[in-house]
This record gives sequence, structure tokens and C-alpha cells, in this order.
Amino acid sequence: MAANDEKTLFTPSQEVVDQANVKEYDQQYAFSLEQPEVFWAEQAAQLSWYREWDKVLDKSNPPFFNWFQGGRTNIILNAIDRHLLSATRNKLAVIWEGEPGDTRTFSYHALNREVSQFANILKSMGVKKGDVVTIYMPQIPEQLFAMLACAKIGAAHSVVYGGFSHEALADRINDANSRVVITADGGYRRGKVVEMKSVVNKAMELSPTMEICITVKRTGIEVYMENDRDYWYHDLKSLPIASNKCETEVMDSSDMLFLLYTSGSTGRPKALVHTHGGYSVYTATTHRMVFDIKPEDRYWCAADPGWITGHSYIVYGPLINGSTIMLYEGAPNHPYPDRWWKIVEKYGINILYTSPTAIRGLMRFGDSWPNRNDISSLRLLGSVGEPINAEAWNWFHKVVGRGNCPIMDTWWQTETGGFVIAPLPITPLKPGSATKPFFGNELAIVDDAGNEVAAGEEGTLVIKTPWPGMAKSVFNDPQRFISTYWEKYSKQGWYHTGDSAKKDEDGYYWIIGRNDDVIKVSGYRLGSAEIEGVMARHPAIVESAAIALPHHLKGNAIHITAVLRNNYKPSKELELELMLHMEEHLGKIARPEAIQFAELLPKTRSGKIMRRLLKSRAMGLPDGDLSTMEE
Ligand code: PRX
Repeated sequence: MAANDEKTLFTPSQEVVDQANVKEYDQQYAFSLEQPEVFWAEQAAQLSWYREWDKVLDKSNPPFFNWFQGGRTNIILNAIDRHLLSATRNKLAVIWEGEPGDTRTFSYHALNREVSQFANILKSMGVKKGDVVTIYMPQIPEQLFAMLACAKIGAAHSVVYGGFSHEALADRINDANSRVVITADGGYRRGKVVEMKSVVNKAMELSPTMEICITVKRTGIEVYMENDRDYWYHDLKSLPIASNKCETEVMDSSDMLFLLYTSGSTGRPKALVHTHGGYSVYTATTHRMVFDIKPEDRYWCAADPGWITGHSYIVYGPLINGSTIMLYEGAPNHPYPDRWWKIVEKYGINILYTSPTAIRGLMRFGDSWPNRNDISSLRLLGSVGEPINAEAWNWFHKVVGRGNCPIMDTWWQTETGGFVIAPLPITPLKPGSATKPFFGNELAIVDDAGNEVAAGEEGTLVIKTPWPGMAKSVFNDPQRFISTYWEKYSKQGWYHTGDSAKKDEDGYYWIIGRNDDVIKVSGYRLGSAEIEGVMARHPAIVESAAIALPHHLKGNAIHITAVLRNNYKPSKELELELMLHMEEHLGKIARPEAIQFAELLPKTRSGKIMRRLLKSRAMGLPDGDLSTMEE
């Protein structure tokens, strides 16, 4: 992949500037840092509240910041209920297309009906405020309804990405103490049925807390159902309990909206907790300003709802803003590589938000696929999840955007809830840079001691100021929240992102990648320790080290160095067996690109695996400092 260049500048057209929701950045940014609470109170005032907050930001117990303290709301009040009182009621909320080509649409009125019915069903199953409901589903409208139904009754959802194995699912169910899981028999992907209920069945065997499973029928495949544990959604929906009227639960700003598992440097995945108040304000504001949302827009975030991008920018931000959202179930290249472009043409999509991996994946089929469809409805494009390389940026801009759609390269994390570095449509763009901080966020690139590094130098990205979208804690483990994100710069009270980055002379930020043991494969986040833990469960393995190496499509790919037990010999067959082991026990995304066998792993004297050394050797770079290495 070609290096990005800091000199190329794409200035937005006058037309883009004229219609932008936000017309000026510098002064408003300065104001948002000088008076963040005034800035955020103004944004919060655009939403509905059952009771207004007493204090915009309670900083009395850092790093557990409390936004809109004393405020009472529910994200559903803003994402659905208030729209029912205006003309938005009859507007399309969701346009959905399944991979086989079936379509369903829902107005805000219909969305409310579906969500209320689902909410009543959950209540009848004993789900209460504060409970955690696990959702493991394909990308069908019911996935969205299930999430919104939980929020409506004050239960927290924990959506587990459908690509994870039954063991990974069970780990997440058990950590969350979840009693109820919502799934579907299966979904469609590349013309095939992907089974889901059978994965849930296996997970439930490993999950002592699991009592109830609600299954949506999507594909009609045969599934095993158990009496008093398993219920078909369509059966429940036909009962009187599934009334289409349901009161929205009044919540505190700081009450839990959802938990979402993500990988870090240590083995066990952790769940970040997001809340009703601050998260509503942050997702709505960032979505409205960065994607320049107009009432008539058709907006498509082509991510999976199972990741934070889907939570914040398919579901919550867009629905709060009353947008019409596009949802598509399947693969971008099924049955042909222009499936996405056909969807853009068919529904007249105006904004398309996706990942560099998806862009590179479609770019390899050439220009003719987008060119044979009329995609001129597109006005803005977006990218997220990993740094976007210059070729992919230029192709997206020139071929998909026909040279006149600005690309919003948005940097953020599961932890941040929403965009932290992102352009506005008026921002002059540099391909590969997420440009400048979003309002209210003060950032810096620092060394290990917290000193700011010079322009152009690489360092660690930190966030110096609290923001409303920030996670409240790690579920059931506040100590881990502190040690992962706040300990390194505890003296200064800064949030440690785990990313290395540079800032250029013009104040543009360039993300380089993770500086911890998190691996981003196709934009998906996995932890080295998590991968190594699953590897170690194979009888051939003594220990292993997982590192990320550059990959032309995936951005990064997993490479493993493994030490075998005495009675095993390295072979191609064993390599393949271990790859399948990873797929089966963690998920397809965790399949390593290559496995190398070694006698020993390089370690420090204190016994830590030196993954950095494995990486520099694999890339033919100098070894660096080896003074801590054991003999
Ligand atoms: O390394 C950064 C990368 O994705 C990480 C966060 O991953 P996750 O929590 O899964 O959230 C992904 C979607 C928000 C970050 O630490 N990352 C995210 N966006 C970008 C990015 N790297 C470069 N450019 C981006 N726009």
C-alpha cells in the first residue's frame, strides 16, 4: 500500500460548503474547549428529556465521569417517541434488503409498533430494567428491533457479532450474566445460509445463566428447539402479550444502555458500558454535524450492527436524527461485485459510510462495476475502522464519489462511543488523515512521560478532556477500566487510546495503528492474548505469539509463531488444522494468515513475549532495543 502524503489537499466545493450544517470550524472548536459544558448543553437541549439535567458534567470521581447528571431520559424517547409527534412519524425509518433480494420497509410509526411488541415480549419473559439481554443475529430488521426494545424497557443489550464462535459467545453470555438470548435460525451470506441458532444452542450448553432463547425465523432451516427454553419470535408475536403499546422506561442519564465486548491487551474480552444520556447527545451531534444530515437524506452505514459502528451510526445517532437508514443483510459482492452500487441506485442513497477493507475489496473488481450503475445520488462518503491508504481513498473519491463527495474519515473506538477525530464536510481533506478533533475534544500526541512530541513525530494519542460519548466503565470491573485507559497518564488525567499517531504542521492527525497488543483485521478488533489463549487449547501447542502484519486487503492479518509439544512435528497439515481450530473456537475473522513453528519464543527476563521483535524480524526491520531480552 502506498504511503499517504501530507501535501495533497482536497478542498470541498462551494456547493458542499453552502449547504453544510456547520459552516465554520476553528472558532467553534476553540469555544467548545473553552466552555465545553456550554457547548454540550446546547447540543443536549436539541433532544427531549423527561427531566433536564442538574449538572452538565460531574467530574467529582474521575475517570468515572457523569454527563448530564440528574437528567432523566431514555434513548428511545429521542430515537422513536418524539418522532411520533411530528411529520417524521410517516417517514421511512428503515429500508432493509436481504441478500436474496427480499425487501422490507418501516416508517417511524411502524418502527414504534415493532419495537413496542418486542419490548412487551421481553417483559413477558421477565426481562427487567438493568438486566442484560444477549443478541446474536444476522443483519435483519429484528436485530434492530431487539436492540431498541431492550433500551425501551431499560434492559441493556449485549450484541455479539454473528461471526463469533459458540465459545466466544458463551464467554460473553457468562461474563454478562445474561438470562435471555435473541437469535435467528440463520442468515444469508454469499448465497449460503449461515447457521446461528445451532451456534447459540452450543453456547447455551456452556452458559449456566441462560434460561430463554427467542428465535426469529429467517431462513426456514431446521433447528433444534427445547420446551420451556426456546420460543419462536413469530409465535410470541401472535399472542396478546405482544401488544403494540408499551411505555418507555424513564432512565437516569447515567443508566446503562448497552454493553459491548471488545478486545484489549489481555486475554479476557471486556465489555464497555455506554449510557442513555451522554451517548444520545454525542452520537446525535457527531452524526448530524459530520454527515451533514438533512431531513430528506437516505443514509447507509454498511457496517455490522454487532460492532460499535453499527450501534452508534446505524442505529442510535441516525434514528435520533430522524434519518432514513439503509440496512443490507449480505455480502457486497453477491451475486456480483456491484451489489452495493445497485442498492445505492435503487434507493437513492445520499451518504455511504464504510471501512477501508470493504473499499479495497470492491476496488479490486475495477471501475466498471460502480460505473455501470447510476450512483450520482451520493453526496458524502465515510470511512472508519483502520487507516485508509492513498489508493483506496483516491478510488473511493474518484470512482465512487465521482470527485465531488468529501470523504469523512472518522477516528474513534468502542470506548469513545462516537467520532473523536473527524472532518466536517467543509474541512479541506488530506487522503489518509482523519483531519482534526471533533468539537469538545482536546487531544495530544505524547511520549511515555506525557510530553508532547514535535509535529511530524510519532507518539501516543491521548484525549485530555472528557466527552459525552465516553464509556462509563468496564462492565463489573471498574478497576480494569482504570488500569486499561487511565493508569498510564494518571498524573495528567488523560485517556490513553492505545493508538500511535502523528500530527502534521497543519494540525492534521494521522493514525498509524495500535501500539498495544490489539490486532485490527479487516477493521475488526482482536487481542493477541485472546488469540494465543485459544491457540493454547489445541493439544499440539505449548505456547504461541500472535502479531499483525500488513495485508493488501485486510489492512492487517494475523501471523502466529507457535511452539509445539515434543510429540508434534511441524507440517502443512498441522498448520491447516490449527487455522481451522482458530475458526472454530474463536471465529472466522480469527483465522491466521500463516503459522510459523519455532523452538522458543523471544521473551523478556520477566517472561513477557516480545511480539515487537517478532514483528520487526518478520518485516525485515532492525531488532531495536534487546536489553530486556532473556538469555
Ligand atoms: O486503531 C484505531 C482503529 O480502530 C480502533 C478502534 O477499534 P474499535 O473499538 O473496534 O472501533 C472501530 C470503529 C470505531 C482504534 O483504536 N481506527 C478506528 N477508526 C480509524 C482507525 N484507525 C485509523 N483511522 C480511522 N478512521
